[in-house]
Amino acid sequence: MKVLSDAALGAAHGKIILVGEHSVVYNEPAIAIPFTSATVEVIITKISGDSTVNSIYHTGKILDAPESLNNLIKTINAVCLYLNKPTNNMHIHIDSNIPAERGMGSSAAVATALVRAMFTYFEAELTDELLYRFVSISEKIAHGNPSGLDATVVSSKQAVYFTRSEATEFFDSHLPGYLVIADTGDEGETIGAVSDVGKLVKNKNTNGQKLITELGNLTKKARQLIEKKNLNQLGEILSKAQTRLNKLTVSNDKLDTLVDAAMKNGAIGAKLTGGGRGGCMIALADQAETAEKIAATLLKNGAIQTWIHNLGD
Ligand code: MEV
Repeated sequence: MKVLSDAALGAAHGKIILVGEHSVVYNEPAIAIPFTSATVEVIITKISGDSTVNSIYHTGKILDAPESLNNLIKTINAVCLYLNKPTNNMHIHIDSNIPAERGMGSSAAVATALVRAMFTYFEAELTDELLYRFVSISEKIAHGNPSGLDATVVSSKQAVYFTRSEATEFFDSHLPGYLVIADTGDEGETIGAVSDVGKLVKNKNTNGQKLITELGNLTKKARQLIEKKNLNQLGEILSKAQTRLNKLTVSNDKLDTLVDAAMKNGAIGAKLTGGGRGGCMIALADQAETAEKIAATLLKNGAIQTWIHNLGD
């Protein structure tokens, strides 16, 4: 491989949904914050010949890439078509520390960093609308029926109050507290979970739709509590959301164990975050020491990694 030019860089970060996952698919609001401890960088350099990629899923020619990279390949093709550029002559290096399939927005973040790097590489102007349009191509393949929440928050510096059919509100989510994030180590099942929730919502003999409406109302309340900086009541909302998500069948034993352990060790609220059935959970704490105690407990109870996010930063 002969490198012919300087590198073009694109970056993005992960996201944490505070409340509103799943119900956001049904046009209820969700609140998510940028998670800048987990980041991805895509670097594109010019080569001669077939384009190549270097990522945890595949290293080699894009033509030989596995199906798991289809979302990115379709995005690359769409950007090249839009900019009227050839799809060859690129070496695409993807470097990510966002755990994949864990509800942290990894797929949307990689697509965002890729689109940003491609526009820099081709020296073209990238508007927010174009970025969203191209990342959505990737997200539809990765997630089936994405609400668009992930694609919005992985490129935002601020918290988002996102409703599918309305303009996104970006707002100040600073709070006097800490969010502990724990990775179960298990891949989530976003597509399956979203589809099963859909069956419950459609089936009038279940209370699926009622649970979705309740999650929406909890999210609206959470927004007011964040504005009032009321950490204790926000914690209660998170726990109430977990009860509803559990009834919608998107939690699992490991997530429930971690949520219980957090609550027994001083959390003021805890729930799964993201698609569920694996992936990550979050716990709210009012003091740094409590957050550290919770994180240690979660590791003892099976989490493979934890992060402490200062909500005041
Ligand atoms: C996935 O991060 C969040 C879900 O609400 C799906 C979506 O919003 O597309 C489960």
